[in-house]
Amino acid sequence: MSQHLTALYDTRVAEGLLRPDPAQRAAMARLESVRERLEQEAPQRSGFLARFRKAEPMGKQGLYLWGGVGRGKSMLMDMFFQHSGVTGKRRVHFHAFMQEVQAALHEARKTGVDDAIKPVAEAIARDLKLLCFDEMQITDIADAMIVGRLFERLFEAGVVIVTTSNRHPKDLYKDGLNRQLFLPFIALLEDRLEVDELDAMTDYRQDRLAGEQVWFTPADTTAARAIDLIWNDLTGGREEALTLEVKGRDVPVPRFWAGQARMEFDDLCGKPLGPADYLALVGAVKLLVVEHIPVMGPANANEAKRFVTLIDALYEGHVRLVASADAVPEALYVEGAGAFEFERTASRLREMQGAGWGAASD
Ligand SMILES: Nc1ncnc2c1ncn2[C@@H]1O[C@H](COP(=O)(O)OP(=O)(O)OP(=O)(O)O)[C@@H](O)[C@H]1O
Ligand SMILES: [Mg+2]
Repeated sequence: MSQHLTALYDTRVAEGLLRPDPAQRAAMARLESVRERLEQEAPQRSGFLARFRKAEPMGKQGLYLWGGVGRGKSMLMDMFFQHSGVTGKRRVHFHAFMQEVQAALHEARKTGVDDAIKPVAEAIARDLKLLCFDEMQITDIADAMIVGRLFERLFEAGVVIVTTSNRHPKDLYKDGLNRQLFLPFIALLEDRLEVDELDAMTDYRQDRLAGEQVWFTPADTTAARAIDLIWNDLTGGREEALTLEVKGRDVPVPRFWAGQARMEFDDLCGKPLGPADYLALVGAVKLLVVEHIPVMGPANANEAKRFVTLIDALYEGHVRLVASADAVPEALYVEGAGAFEFERTASRLREMQGAGWGAASD
């Protein structure tokens, strides 16, 4: 018998690979019971018909693990997946899975079947005992309208489902079109899966930044590449556009993901934005990337003044800052109106590069 998942977790902690987190350990215990059930049941499910009989009313048929970004959901699910001894297991990004389903539906409809979902679900479930989804999220109406019947079929076929998500099932497809038609899917998830929040101590992804370089100078292509790496790590390659509404105006934040934004200095300080805009931004982010901060002089007093306001707002809000600039903070603005006050800004920028900065705000 393979190692208990909580023991595996403890081993990783003991080896110094993971920081101990009681919420993660508890999630591992729940994943362990999913695994035990899966491995016990596997032999009886070998017959084709047996697999298509109604799922027994006993217990749940998997786990829906949700919570904030960087809490370790995907990592825990991967450990579970790797150490699940069943044959017929599959781990897939939810978005990729739905694209595959839509393509298969498209093909099936060509053959003129009444209900294309049935054969597609049966094909997916064939020889499959465990399906792990990363990042369940529903934004597309075409997906929203089919997931209910699709998952019903998968559950009926006896497939065990483990999924991660940033949202509670009740908040999936929030404010989506025809949402009432989506509600049966939520009910199904809550009925068939154990729904657990992973309330881990911190955002481990952002914590990795502690002690790392966050101020890159000069703001050249080397800096841009370094920032790309950080940004991809923090967002997992995901981003969306956000619009802040400030006093009836729209302030666009084109690159945003889960409390993290990436902006150009020019868009932040080269435009007529003011304290209210920066405060709105601080309200929306825990981490801000500002690229291409220039060296400023008397001709850029307005930009410098806005930059001071921006940094004050970020500082008060304990926002983490990652930046590329043409100089170290002290040399950014030495001459011009307000250059004396800029010294405090430079000092704050130094403090914000420290290892402990922002950690307390979680
Ligand atoms: N206890 C821990 N100690 C050290 N690193 C950890 C710990 N838990 C998670 N990590 C690391 O933190 C990063 C974020 O974890 P993971 O990707 O699993 O988060 P997530 O909850 O899936 O986030 P998201 O919702 O954004 O997908 C990973 O690189 C992971 O290895
Ligand atoms: Mg994840």
